[in-house]
Amino acid sequence: MAVSYRDLGFVNTKAMFSAAVKGGFAVPAYNFNNMEQLQAIVTGCLESQSPVILQVSKGARDYADQTLLRYMGQGVIEMMKRMAKEKGLGEIPITMHLDHGDSYETCVSCIESGFSSVMIDGSHHPYEQNVELTRKVVEYAHKYDVTVEGELGILAGVEDDVKAEHHTYTQPEEVQDFVAKTGVDSLAIAIGTSHGAYKFKPGQKVEIRLDILHEIEKKLPGFPIVLHGSSSVPQDAVEMINKYGGKLKDSVGIPENQLREAAKSAVCKINIDSDGRLVMTAKIREVFAAKPEEFDPRKYLGPARDALKNLYIAKNKNVLGSAGKSAEIMALLKK
Ligand code: G3H
Ligand code: 13P
Ligand code: ZN
Repeated sequence: MAVSYRDLGFVNTKAMFSAAVKGGFAVPAYNFNNMEQLQAIVTGCLESQSPVILQVSKGARDYADQTLLRYMGQGVIEMMKRMAKEKGLGEIPITMHLDHGDSYETCVSCIESGFSSVMIDGSHHPYEQNVELTRKVVEYAHKYDVTVEGELGILAGVEDDVKAEHHTYTQPEEVQDFVAKTGVDSLAIAIGTSHGAYKFKPGQKVEIRLDILHEIEKKLPGFPIVLHGSSSVPQDAVEMINKYGGKLKDSVGIPENQLREAAKSAVCKINIDSDGRLVMTAKIREVFAAKPEEFDPRKYLGPARDALKNLYIAKNKNVLGSAGKSAEIMALLKK
């Protein structure tokens, strides 16, 4: 093993998910690509005392470079410890997770560089191939106590460079067999969410299939379910982007009350990336419009980082229900 996640200070998702199942909340899984996003996530979750899953996509790994990510990983734990002490707060559990792992090799490489959790996304393969690939990743990951997320069903839109015109909803009849054969620790499902800022078309009913979620919950009582594509696309951010020269048309997301409902039931992890991108872009555009003479990156990335932090605090408190839940998870981890 090159680096163990434990040496870096990360935790796997087991304690987080067991608390989330019992407590009717979901752990936020926020994507990041750069330092400011990472700082906003960690400070926002620390201030709201929420557990957090830091998500790195394959694209983020290519963009930020693997070695840089490892340093960022180490740095983030140091930052969290220092800030917790200064503010008189308890530390929070942090998972470093590979989002949409596309192959066995990518998962192994992430585990070797200190990730505490990986997703193997075999959802575009035929069922038996998905089972086989996922099982192989689980077999390797569990040797190092790294947790694994699998996926059944296909989200509409672009996912892993594959474009799907329609949702292929997860079939509740398949979930027991998939979990038993693969040994996954959590399961991502397709119930009408989708990636990006254009989830619904104008005039379309804005509703996710909570009925399918409840069917799945009956088949797998107490098993952690994951929702991808769960940005709500805040309209104030979209309006600000368009006001200052952007061109986002008909951007519609998942209503926050529907995500709250999902979090109260079997959904233990909610993936949010696009909302952060929108808020960051809106703030940067606003600064550029108000101060066209500005060219110091700290002067526009700093305000963007503050806006992002506020977004994450609000999500944790009002949508995921994860605010204030970190102490009980830290206690579980010490047992
Ligand atoms: O599910 C996809 C995430 O939003 C990551 O997106 O592949 O552009 O980094 P990305
Ligand atoms: P959004 O595009 O809705 O933020 O979804 C992110 C995601 O699912 C990351 O895996
Ligand atoms: Zn996703």
